[in-house]
Amino acid sequence: MEKEKPIGVFDSGIGGLTVVKRVASALPTENIVYFGDTARVPYGSKSNATVVEYGLQDARFLINKNVKAIVVACNTVSSVALDEIRKKFNVPVIGVIEPGAALAAKETKNGRIGVIGTRATVNNKAYSSEIKKINSSIEVYERECPLFVPLAEEGWIRHKATYDIAEEYLKELRELKIDTLVLGCTHYPILSGVIQEVIGKNVKLIDSGVASAEVIKKELDRVDLHTNKYSSGNQEFYVSDLPTKFKEVAELFLGQEIKLVQKVDLETLTS
Ligand code: DGL
Repeated sequence: MEKEKPIGVFDSGIGGLTVVKRVASALPTENIVYFGDTARVPYGSKSNATVVEYGLQDARFLINKNVKAIVVACNTVSSVALDEIRKKFNVPVIGVIEPGAALAAKETKNGRIGVIGTRATVNNKAYSSEIKKINSSIEVYERECPLFVPLAEEGWIRHKATYDIAEEYLKELRELKIDTLVLGCTHYPILSGVIQEVIGKNVKLIDSGVASAEVIKKELDRVDLHTNKYSSGNQEFYVSDLPTKFKEVAELFLGQEIKLVQKVDLETLTS
């Protein structure tokens, strides 16, 4: 039965687990299959062509797991490869940029939005163009924050170094008097405590995972693909490498225990 198939979610690594957490809480009876390309992370410093190639391979892996929809829980892939993935695969494909941009445009009061993300996401101006489509008078200031990814993966969520780096990255945005800041990388919600303190408590943080979970729910309504079951959904986790500390860090991102993580050979992805 089409409705009982799982929802597929992928990211360049473990950042997308922050999205799984939101999807599982919005749709608790749905089964989820997660793939994290931990062998090839980060995507944020790679060329668009490479990100498109990897994104298509990741989506193919999930299609082979018989998913009914794909959530691209990576801003970097969402910013360059969404159209290609939609063209190639015949299931609903939801990215994280459009939902995050729409929520930010709705929340801002002074029309000044900051966006932080990987180098690729910022260089592609993915959020600016989405936000401007909604309201061309909104000012959008995008800044790349590449060091937030390894800090999140180290679990340095309240470390002094994280405060210092956040201060360096965010001081200019603070001076630009933004009232809304998009966490435009799925790793960043892990560091939201420090980011909120440094940017100031009056700035509203937008977690694109939260926004995306609502969009996925609506999309499943639209195509009539919600599961009929009432019991809690299962979650399956696959990665292309199992680094040391993986379980600890992945559980930090997901906010719950992970019992089993299965390793996939890169050859399976690329062949
Ligand atoms: N989680 C990825 C994103 O949302 C960032 C990590 C990476 O550079 O691969 O863009």
